[in-house]
Amino acid sequence: SKYEPVLRMHCADFQEEPPEIFGWTEPVAYEPVYTLGANIFESMEKILAPSILAADIMRLGEQIEAVKNAGAKYLHIDVMDGEFVPNFGLGVDYIRGLRELTSIPLDLHLMIKDPEYKLPWIGIHKEDIVTIHYESTFQVQRALDYLVPYGCKRFLAINPATPIGQIEEVLDYIDGVNLLMVNPGFAGQKIVPSTLRKAEKLQKFLQEMHREDIILEVDGNITKEHGATLRSCGASIFVAGTSSIFCTDVSHFGEKIREFRKAVE
Ligand code: DX5
Ligand code: ZN
Repeated sequence: SKYEPVLRMHCADFQEEPPEIFGWTEPVAYEPVYTLGANIFESMEKILAPSILAADIMRLGEQIEAVKNAGAKYLHIDVMDGEFVPNFGLGVDYIRGLRELTSIPLDLHLMIKDPEYKLPWIGIHKEDIVTIHYESTFQVQRALDYLVPYGCKRFLAINPATPIGQIEEVLDYIDGVNLLMVNPGFAGQKIVPSTLRKAEKLQKFLQEMHREDIILEVDGNITKEHGATLRSCGASIFVAGTSSIFCTDVSHFGEKIREFRKAVE
């Protein structure tokens, strides 16, 4: 089948091509644009993913350059449709523009309803992380299958009120979980306190399921202090928004990132 090379590499048990449905087009095969060197997913390295939603649009190029120089491995992109979350943002044209500005892979946080039908619009690279929300579609497993041909890392996000057990049946279809510490949609919110306890529960749950290989990402109000707590719950990708980096002049980004790394290492 036309998906075979990618499928063989990334999901041996995915047998069928996605059916011909509205919105589905063949994914574009992208060449790698950014080499990470060592496979970060096999290392213990903690990753900071600066959240572009929190960036200053007037100084975007400068800010991206600064986080790149500080070693950012991903840019976290909040894609919002005004329906799944009460805000709009960082859409298809924005992502296309960003690709011209930088070759840093994207951590695409899709806060959109029924994401499975909109994937071809986004221009996903195989170095990217693509996160869909458990709450955004009635057919979560199908949505995760539709990501396979892109060869990207597949993450599932859960909102603060969604119980951990909901992800049990799709553990075989994901590389990571994005644990939302706020109700998604806006930068600059305060943590939902129960999510800290939830992170601990999630770590235990993954241990019980013998799935410690599943990467834990945390998103929303990730201060240095929350980062340190969450690190001890097994988090390895930290979304850095207004709570950590984008609260200062771009000239201090490097310093802020170093401080944050120290707190979570
Ligand atoms: C929240 C977003 C986050 C946000 C994080 O909806 O998913 O990515 O930008 O940044 P702060 O630190 O502002 O919460
Ligand atoms: Zn996000």
